[in-house]
Parts: sequence; structure tokens; C-alpha cells
Amino acid sequence: MRIFFTGGSGKAGKHAVSYLLDQGHRVLNADLVPLDDPRVDNLKVDLADIGQVYSAMSGLAGMDELDDPAGVPRFDAVVHFAAIPRILVASDSEVFRVNTLSTYNVIEAAVKLGIRKVIFASSETTYGICFAQGEVRPDYLPVDEDHPTVPHDSYAMSKVANEITARSFQARTGVDIYGLRINNVIEPHEYNEMFPAFVQDPSLRRRNIFGYIDARDLGHMVECCLRTDGLGYQVFNVANPDTSVGIATEEVIARFYPGVPVRRNISGNDTVYAIDKACNLVGFAPKHGWRDKVS
Ligand SMILES: NC(=O)c1ccc[n+]([C@@H]2O[C@H](COP(=O)([O-])OP(=O)(O)OC[C@H]3O[C@@H](n4cnc5c(N)ncnc54)[C@H](O)[C@@H]3O)[C@@H](O)[C@H]2O)c1
Repeated sequence: MRIFFTGGSGKAGKHAVSYLLDQGHRVLNADLVPLDDPRVDNLKVDLADIGQVYSAMSGLAGMDELDDPAGVPRFDAVVHFAAIPRILVASDSEVFRVNTLSTYNVIEAAVKLGIRKVIFASSETTYGICFAQGEVRPDYLPVDEDHPTVPHDSYAMSKVANEITARSFQARTGVDIYGLRINNVIEPHEYNEMFPAFVQDPSLRRRNIFGYIDARDLGHMVECCLRTDGLGYQVFNVANPDTSVGIATEEVIARFYPGVPVRRNISGNDTVYAIDKACNLVGFAPKHGWRDKVS
């Protein structure tokens, strides 16, 4: 596929782009900064500027495409990862502005240019736990896609707004638009750096609902979504089936979620961030866990 990928230079994007390139796709990375990978085409685009978005999304991906006498081909899919990825890196209002405007611009341009598949990065933060003021507990466990999304913070608000934008564009056009409620992204080098502390103190993972996702498995999830057509508008939790802590999930629930209804049997190290929907509908099967990587 010829893919218009936004935010491919970032922490999550660079691994997802690499995964997609490995699958044989052509990727144009639209970002403020280039990705240093000789296999990728880079274009500097400020996605908050809709003129730049239309121009880039209707243009060439690379010099070689000048040789095509048929003209500029249409992108087969858009994968939108670009964002300010949390609070406290810019003002709250700037996080909301950049994230909502860029997502509106990317989806509007995609559907109006006739692109039939859009995959966008939403977030676990939509459930309102990660950046809550004080402690907020889930309404029930495991947290699935039906759980309410009423966050306190501007980043998660922007992601909830983006899901509404996506749902509306899907309703109007019928294209497939899938949102990924991504849990905490972990790069391969971060296992040894971060997980020993999580084993020592499981409470460090409370705000992430004790989940995580390997960046390479996130690339696999994007590929699953690219391969699966006809689902209309969907949101998917994206996480490892394991937790990110050393204690059993039963103990996690006893220590951190007293009184929270548990809706199904949970055993061993089962995640409390449900990924069944992604596994069942698009064949998501993450394979990179932390337990064999942490000394
Ligand atoms: N990292 C995580 O744990 C995590 C968890 C859940 C969801 N997400 C979401 O996944 C996506 C990727 O996150 P990340 O951790 O790779 O973030 P990142 O900050 O590392 O990468 C984001 C990329 O977007 C680009 N960008 C920002 N504003 C832009 C603009 N106006 N125009 C063009 N490009 C712009 C940046 O240059 C950067 O390369 C984001 O949408 C984020 O909200 C991340």
C-alpha cells in the first residue's frame, strides 16, 4: 500500500513506520521533523495547517513518482500518529488545539481526497485515569471500549474530541476509520531501563491501568487494521495481554481496585486493559513482552 503516515518521526511512529516498511508498504512520513531511515520518504508538514495537509496528501511521495506518466497516485491509507503526546509539554490549550485541529485536517483531507482507510492514534487516557486530578478508578474491570470516556485533562479531551470527529466523518462518508486507544508505548531499549522499577513498585503503573504496548506490536496492530476492511468506525484498545508489574493481577485488583466490579474471571498476569476486541476483529496478536527481557 502507499501510505500517508503522520508523526512517523516520533517514539511510536518510527517503530510503526519501520514495521510497515518491512511488510513492503511505501510510506510517506508527514512530520515537522524527518525520520532518519533511508527507506522512508519524508515531507515537512505542519498538520495544523489544512492547506499543507491537502497539498501533501494529494502530492508525490518521492522523486521516483515523477516518472509515472499516469500522474500522482492516490494514497491507499492514512495513518495519523502526529500529536503532542501528553500534557505538560505545551500549555493545555496548545495541546488541545494542535491535536484536535491536526486530526480534523487529516481526516477531512483523507475522506475528501477519496482515501478509504484512516487509522488514528487515540489513547488509553480517554478513560480518564491517566492524567486525572487525584485518583480516578475504572468503573469496572477489565476496562474495555464500552467504558465511559470522561477525562479531566486537555490531552485526553483532545483524543475524545478526535474520536467524535472520526466517527462523524465515517458516518458521512462510509470510509473505514479505526481509532487505536494505545496504552503506554514501550521501545525495546526501555524494558531494562524502566521495568525493574515497576517490579519494585507496582503503584508506578496505576495511571496506565497496569498496561503497556511494545512499539513493534503497535506497528503490527496498524498492519492488522490496514488488512481489515469494512468495519466502519471502530475504536480498539491496544496493549499487551500481560500487565507491566511483577505481582499477579489478582493482587493488583486487591491492592489498587478494592470495590471495583470485576466482570469476568481474571487470572495469572492477565491485563485489566481488555484487548479482546482488537484480537477478535482484526487479528491483533502481540508478541513482545517484558518478562524475558528484564534482568
Ligand atoms: N507514547 C505513548 O505512550 C502513547 C500512548 C498512547 C497514545 N499515544 C499517541 O500515539 C501517537 C504517537 O505518540 P509518540 O509517543 O510517538 O509521540 P512523539 O511526540 O514521540 O511523536 C509525535 C510526532 O508528531 C509530530 N508532530 C507534532 N505536532 C505536529 C504537527 N503540527 N505537524 C506535524 N507533525 C507534528 C512530532 O514532530 C513527532 O515526531 C500520538 O498521537 C500520541 O498521542 C502515545
